[in-house]
Amino acid sequence: MQEWYKTWFDSPYYHLLYRQRDDKEAEGFIRSLIDFIKPPPGSVMLDQACGRGRHVRILASLGFEVTGIDLSENSISYCKQFESDNLHFAVHDMRRIISVNSFDYVFNLFTSMGYFRHDHDQQLTVSSAAAALKKGGHYIVDFMNVHWVISRLISEMHKTIDGIEFYISRRVENGFIIKDIKFRAENHDHHYTEYVEAMTVEDFDRYFQHAGLKRLHIFGNYSLQPFDRNLSERLILIAQKT
Ligand SMILES: C[S@@+](CC[C@H](N)C(=O)[O-])C[C@H]1O[C@@H](n2cnc3c(N)ncnc32)[C@H](O)[C@@H]1O
Repeated sequence: MQEWYKTWFDSPYYHLLYRQRDDKEAEGFIRSLIDFIKPPPGSVMLDQACGRGRHVRILASLGFEVTGIDLSENSISYCKQFESDNLHFAVHDMRRIISVNSFDYVFNLFTSMGYFRHDHDQQLTVSSAAAALKKGGHYIVDFMNVHWVISRLISEMHKTIDGIEFYISRRVENGFIIKDIKFRAENHDHHYTEYVEAMTVEDFDRYFQHAGLKRLHIFGNYSLQPFDRNLSERLILIAQKT
């Protein structure tokens, strides 16, 4: 298994394929979250894998002190245009501690973990978030509900976007949800494979406990409705540093 997440997320075709997951979806979710968690003015926030910054830009527009990090150099250089007094970006691997006892909230949104071959690295992602939080601070994770995804897995499909035909196949293997993406663009055949560990609530609870975090809340979609293992599309968790 290669370190697929370094190349695929850095490619323009990733952003093309997923372009429907846009700023509007992010805005609705962030507004629901802020209504629920009610961060005090001036709260300091970190997004562990901010991509092109769709969530952090909204948080900064609400006046919070926000930092977005991501492994993708192309995404961070895109984000730099939005930098301001209360919004900063850096290329950084979320498995490494960025700073200690510094943030009131750390976010990991839109299935931005589970990419690593070893459990140890998933744990490092959670533990580095816990290290970055102040005592009493909150970690907010938005992951897929793997039960929902696996029960509805479409094994083969294709779609055309901007004249490029993407052929996508999905399977579950050794506890990972694997998605093969093939297409031809700019006179080349491309093939990327996404590997995401099928992490359940129980897995997250184990990682949280090991990192000194306690789960407080669980939701099943972006409107923060209750989590149902069979029916919810998302698994949204809020944990606190004890
Ligand atoms: C599914 S995308 C979501 C991006 C963003 N949260 C959003 O909702 O638009 C996952 C992101 O995780 C980033 N990523 C992957 N591995 C990473 C790592 N080890 N450290 C930091 N970011 C990473 C990718 O570059 C990509 O931007």
